[in-house]
Amino acid sequence: MTATGDTAPVPEPVDGLFVTFEGGDGVGKTTQAALLEAWLRDAGRTVVRTREPGGTEVGVLIRDIVLHHRGEVAPRAEALLYAADRAHHVETLVRPALARGEVVIQDRYLDSSVAYQGAGRVLGRDEVRELSLWATGGLLPDVTVLLDLDPASARARLEADEKPFDRLEAEKEHFHARVREEFLALAAAEPERFLVLDAALPPDALAAAVRARVEPLLA
Ligand code: TYD
Repeated sequence: MTATGDTAPVPEPVDGLFVTFEGGDGVGKTTQAALLEAWLRDAGRTVVRTREPGGTEVGVLIRDIVLHHRGEVAPRAEALLYAADRAHHVETLVRPALARGEVVIQDRYLDSSVAYQGAGRVLGRDEVRELSLWATGGLLPDVTVLLDLDPASARARLEADEKPFDRLEAEKEHFHARVREEFLALAAAEPERFLVLDAALPPDALAAAVRARVEPLLA
């Protein structure tokens, strides 16, 4: 699926299927992306599983700045860094895979920018969305799975992992509450694109719900 903002170039048509996973930190996106990938591969599909930030060599460098820089990163600079990662990722990896008719399964995409930079950093939903649409030539996912979880439970899961928190994970609870609310608002605004699931459900139940949403789209 494609959409353009006023400033975005006209997108190239794509034939593959673009599925993104979204949600706060610690909700289980990576697990669900891996389960969907395994199911599709078993069904004989060619799958590209990737993520933002950091799905390309350039992206790995950008990821290091946005997640691990020790000093301040100005909110607008942060938004531009995520957008730069996305622009390069879409042009060099995602669009070519979709043009070959493959399935792209991606951990985070532009909805993360709208939620984290738009709402979390308070830069504004519309500006941040337009920035990403410009960066990607208006590429929107066919399906976006939103794994919804209250921030306190998500934080408890992250703490159980015992990995050091990155810059975004280390933000306060009210930041993560704004992010969650924005994800839910985005899903409510585009019900045809979003599948919202309660991330507290067992992984198998979540995976079955994701498969049920994706299967009819596999022509
Ligand atoms: P992620 O790769 O999901 O983290 P991890 O590898 O620890 O699971 O995402 C890294 C962080 O970047 C996450 O806190 C969300 C944030 N983020 C944004 O703030 N804006 C964006 O556009 C994207 C893609 C991620």
